Amino acid sequence: MIPYARQVISEADIEAVARVLRSDYLTQGPVVPRLEAEAARFCGSRYAVAVNSGTSALHLAYLALGVGQGDRVWTSPITFAATANAALHCGATVEFVDIDSRTFNLSVECLEQKLIVAEREGTVPKLVVPVHLCGQSCDMAAIGRLAMRFGFRVVEDASHAFGAELDGSRVGAGRFSDATVFSFHPVKVITSGEGGMVATNSAEIARRVALLRSHGITRDPKEMERSSEEPWYYEQVALGFNYRMTDIHAALGLSQLSAVDGFLKRRRFLAQRYDLELVELPVTLQEPLPGSLSAHHLYVVRVPSDAARDRNEIAEHMRASGVAVNLHYIPVYRHPFYAARMKVKPDCPQAERYYEDAISLPMYAGLGEDQQSVTIAAIAEACRPK
Ligand SMILES: Cc1ncc(COP(=O)(O)O)c(C=O)c1O
Repeated sequence: MIPYARQVISEADIEAVARVLRSDYLTQGPVVPRLEAEAARFCGSRYAVAVNSGTSALHLAYLALGVGQGDRVWTSPITFAATANAALHCGATVEFVDIDSRTFNLSVECLEQKLIVAEREGTVPKLVVPVHLCGQSCDMAAIGRLAMRFGFRVVEDASHAFGAELDGSRVGAGRFSDATVFSFHPVKVITSGEGGMVATNSAEIARRVALLRSHGITRDPKEMERSSEEPWYYEQVALGFNYRMTDIHAALGLSQLSAVDGFLKRRRFLAQRYDLELVELPVTLQEPLPGSLSAHHLYVVRVPSDAARDRNEIAEHMRASGVAVNLHYIPVYRHPFYAARMKVKPDCPQAERYYEDAISLPMYAGLGEDQQSVTIAAIAEACRPK
């Protein structure tokens, strides 16, 4: 079976991890700060703070912005549940903004309309979280303008978008947001096994995230209430977590980062080949935002309702042809946990349509052209009238 996603691990990756295993520190050693410095340089952010998952990164980014009990957080329904869950963990409530039928990302028009109503009703959110689905950036300049006009904060969920670009800047450079979150889960553009990162240009956000990832404990005299000459002295000054990334994971992340240009090149080549080969088929592709360069974490196609077969039949045919396909994502509000807690069903007709007709084809740097050809032939066959 051709998987829909898979990590690419080199001998250099294995050696980098083994070096840490032979060293003095498995965690809280020198490798995490090295990964943070390299990742910040790569993204063009002032700071980068590594944690043990993208989910932890979201949670800490929201907390660092002061999201708490009773606050409102808005995001796209077409995302992994973690984007919304992190807000609930802060004690906030979550609302969903419909997607754009062309880009599959949060619709700026729907966001503006919802904000106009919210302003009238005094329910403007504290935080909006645009999700860069499949690795393609949302229209951050437009969202940034709305943030200025309505007064909310912005965290980019760029779990899919490490290495993506918009208007000549890398995602993470944070020109229109407070912070950007990445995931280094194995299926992502680069992996640290499990891992995540908050990139930001704010010294205060970086400081808060770093403090909260390690119990809220500090050894920095500037952050302590009491001064002490004792070298062992430390203080807990906030209620945090153990969300630390280990040096073992950071070594893998750092080694993968050194290969990221090759990974991105390969993903872009494969995406372009899909684009060209699927052009004759009755499928709709994610429309690129002008000025954006996707990281192509996922490759989603949509099967219109008038196609010869529906999405489920196509997925079944693909699996029978040895190609594992997937769905990214079930609208978050449809999960029983959320459905039971939503006072009104979100008005997201485009997300509903997407849920009916989207399918993710195999996409990863290690995907061979022969495997991609099998995938293309299988979907072409699946789309053929019965
Ligand atoms: C959009 C999105 N947000 C957040 C996450 C959470 O990342 P992690 O699995 O590293 O916790 C993921 C992971 O799949 C994701 O795809």
